Amino acid sequence: MNNYRIIQGDCLKILFNLTEQVDLTFLDPPFNQDKEYTEWNDNLPKQEYWQIMKNVCQKIYESTSDGGAIYFMQREKNTEFVLQSLRESGWTFQNLIIWKKKTSAVPCSNKFGKQFQIIAFATKKGKPRVFNRLRVSLPLPPNYKYERENGIYLTDVWDDIRELTSGYFAGDEAIRKDNGQRFHKQQAPIALLLRIILSSTKIGDTVLDPFAGTGTTLVVAEQLGRKSVGMEISSENVKIIENRMIKIQKADSVLRFHRDYVYTENLKAIWNFNSACAIHKKGETLSLFG
Ligand SMILES: C[S@@+](CC[C@H](N)C(=O)[O-])C[C@H]1O[C@@H](n2cnc3c(N)ncnc32)[C@H](O)[C@@H]1O
Repeated sequence: MNNYRIIQGDCLKILFNLTEQVDLTFLDPPFNQDKEYTEWNDNLPKQEYWQIMKNVCQKIYESTSDGGAIYFMQREKNTEFVLQSLRESGWTFQNLIIWKKKTSAVPCSNKFGKQFQIIAFATKKGKPRVFNRLRVSLPLPPNYKYERENGIYLTDVWDDIRELTSGYFAGDEAIRKDNGQRFHKQQAPIALLLRIILSSTKIGDTVLDPFAGTGTTLVVAEQLGRKSVGMEISSENVKIIENRMIKIQKADSVLRFHRDYVYTENLKAIWNFNSACAIHKKGETLSLFG
């Protein structure tokens, strides 16, 4: 039996009949900025859009275990609406994570250029049921003299994860059409979901992604031994998710990020190596560590 479930359709409707109890949700909806989506109007009146987001947050809340988490990603200009949607649907605010982009800032003529996206982290009924304090081993900033002996605890500023862009930096991870163009412009990086799932779940927990897109959340959850449920309105995207899950590619492997987390005290308990390694061929796994 699969550890994951992909459901095609409108998450607002599907959420009403969700049978699973959810421990973590990654919420990465269309940002209502008039992007071309085949089955979604990305140019709704602002009030209508935020009412939908609040309803989604509310339905997720009802299906979440006590202390379970939600990570709601959005543009920084919408921070106040994100926090309001979460608060008014019952969630307890924990952190506002700044995901600092590695690409150049979006220039603005009358204010500062924009270079980050926000991810609001909140939990149901107060204290998180799981919060794994990750210690990361990141490259030293150029003005630092000494290597850190055992990494540093992660903070709420994430500036080490590269978004998938159109250029060569996106590498093999970005899914492409035959003409080389990216299949889905909003495909989230594996490294981002790895960090979120490792922080807020245990092995065997259930992860939900109501706007699954290309299925990055499911791909990572599967490798970490978590169960997952993905909802996606577009049938084209659902096909991509199904293919991505049938045979997880080397470009989607979480193993290449293992070194970044080796100083995390309980890493062995939260990172299921057996499932990740079983998913990849032995030779590939070894070369990833090599
Ligand atoms: C920002 S993208 C998510 C990208 C995803 N995180 C990934 O890594 O690929 C939002 C997705 O939500 C889907 N979508 C839009 N409205 C939806 C709805 N009502 N129910 C389910 N999916 C929806 C869109 O087709 C799009 O793929």
